[in-house]
Amino acid sequence: MGDIRQIVLTRRPTGAPVPEDFALASAPMPRPGPGEMLVRMRVCSCDPAIRGFLDDRPSYLPPVALGAPINGMSLGEIVESNNPDWPVGTLVRTMATWSEYYVIGADALGLEKVNAAPGVPLQHYMGALGPVGLTAWVGLFEIGKAKPGETVVVSAAAGATGSTVVQLAKAAGCRVIGLAGGPAKAQIVRDLGADIAIDYKSVPDLAAAIHEAAPEGVDVYFDNVGGETLDAILPLMRLHGRVAVCGMIAQYNDADNPHGNRNLWQLVVNRLNMRGFITYDHPEVLGEAQAMLDSLFASGGLKPLENVREGLEKLPEAFIELMSGKTTGKTLVLI
Ligand SMILES: NC(=O)c1ccc[n+]([C@@H]2O[C@H](COP(=O)([O-])OP(=O)(O)OC[C@H]3O[C@@H](n4cnc5c(N)ncnc54)[C@H](OP(=O)(O)O)[C@@H]3O)[C@@H](O)[C@H]2O)c1
Repeated sequence: MGDIRQIVLTRRPTGAPVPEDFALASAPMPRPGPGEMLVRMRVCSCDPAIRGFLDDRPSYLPPVALGAPINGMSLGEIVESNNPDWPVGTLVRTMATWSEYYVIGADALGLEKVNAAPGVPLQHYMGALGPVGLTAWVGLFEIGKAKPGETVVVSAAAGATGSTVVQLAKAAGCRVIGLAGGPAKAQIVRDLGADIAIDYKSVPDLAAAIHEAAPEGVDVYFDNVGGETLDAILPLMRLHGRVAVCGMIAQYNDADNPHGNRNLWQLVVNRLNMRGFITYDHPEVLGEAQAMLDSLFASGGLKPLENVREGLEKLPEAFIELMSGKTTGKTLVLI
């Protein structure tokens, strides 16, 4: 068999990633050993968390070595198998590498079968019907404990996770306030059903704008960005409010200079529960979450928002665009 193509890390980014940090490389076709499977990549996910794996510092996965392929979530099809539980033709989601083909064992991180419904675009299973939807669900309901009638604020609300949180929270009967950068993104958030969308880049005082939108306070803050936005919201939380910390993208490109949050004392004042989470630490609820996502999608109540490119070679530019804050919806590359 011939060589395969991969995207490798050529140098560690300083600040925002640039094209020179990545290269298209070729490698011999990997061969599955006993119990292993060879997978052909079909849909590759660009995730902000990957930025953390590119620095030589601890993240929740070890750093990518220089010259090695980048790690990322992938949806692929098993094309060769030495494991009867994972036959050829099975669609799988797993943590993999940015490679056309890769070998996994049954213990691969996050490995799960994908039951794609006929007629549904495969990429949705990497987006709102996959890891994105599950993250939104776990953060909103398992960590945030959102209940009907409560006020939910979500940041990066036109992004992959945020756009799904808006729709899930509305479906659950919450009042939803979405924060997004720019008028076009704010309009998208309104179109997704948010009661109020705030373009945080155009308001002179974000805390005042959120207070005006939620004069009774905020029950759940779904935090995608951290930084100044988190500072603005903590004093606006209601007694016993919940802050579901999904991510803090505002500081991923500048991990050497983390924002010094000033309002953590509000955790005590408002008896808040602020908790970080990683979706796949909650396997016990993922079945329930997937069922809600699937049925909401089938009834038209969940519209996957996506930013899709084609071709493995497009992965670096797709990731760079994601980390520049310009994208809306889930950034995916079809292979
Ligand atoms: N805990 C988990 O298991 C888990 C799983 C998946 C993702 N996450 C986290 O969830 C968050 C959202 O991820 P996503 O995949 O849904 O991405 P995304 O929201 O589609 O894209 C990132 C968005 O973040 C906003 N942003 C704010 N400050 C930024 C900055 N300094 N640089 C770049 N973007 C900035 C931008 O929107 P605006 O223009 O509206 O500011 C940007 O479009 C991230 O923090 C990610 O790490 C966590």
